Amino acid sequence: MSESLHIPTSTDRDTLYRTILPQIEAIVQGETNLTANLANIAAVLKEALDFFWVGFYLVDGKELVLGPFQGPLACTRITKGKGVCGTAWQQQKTVLVADVEQFPGHIACSSESRSEIVVPVFNSKHEVVMVIDVDSKMPDDFTSVDERYLTDLAKIITRLL
Ligand code: SME
Repeated sequence: MSESLHIPTSTDRDTLYRTILPQIEAIVQGETNLTANLANIAAVLKEALDFFWVGFYLVDGKELVLGPFQGPLACTRITKGKGVCGTAWQQQKTVLVADVEQFPGHIACSSESRSEIVVPVFNSKHEVVMVIDVDSKMPDDFTSVDERYLTDLAKIITRLL
């Protein structure tokens, strides 16, 4: 696997995602351990896109359980249908929250989080097996660009399962 990351100086998120997704594919290629791969994916997203919090919550029975992440301390368990993560799991779709204070039931792991995007990852039977969660300290920080590339990332992860 490649251990050095090429990150363009651009701050344009579209450019950053387009540069790092092929590198993520190269990094995870040949590694079969899911935890190791998710840990490196979280590290790459944090380093390249400078997200406040980025990580994974994995489906475990009726709950999501905290997986590899980068950022401040986070809550460990989220019930299906609760918070942004549990809602994305229940609805099996991406949830984009421009202002977390306006999202009923938002789980505030950090009081600094202002906006959030959660993208489900499906297995080959089209069941949600985890979610990708990204938090920002800025309100309204996520757009269809994040949705598009994080959905591409979710498909890369499906192939690792
Ligand atoms: N805010 C999330 C909980 C996870 S933290 O953001 C890391 C939610 O409402 O599901």
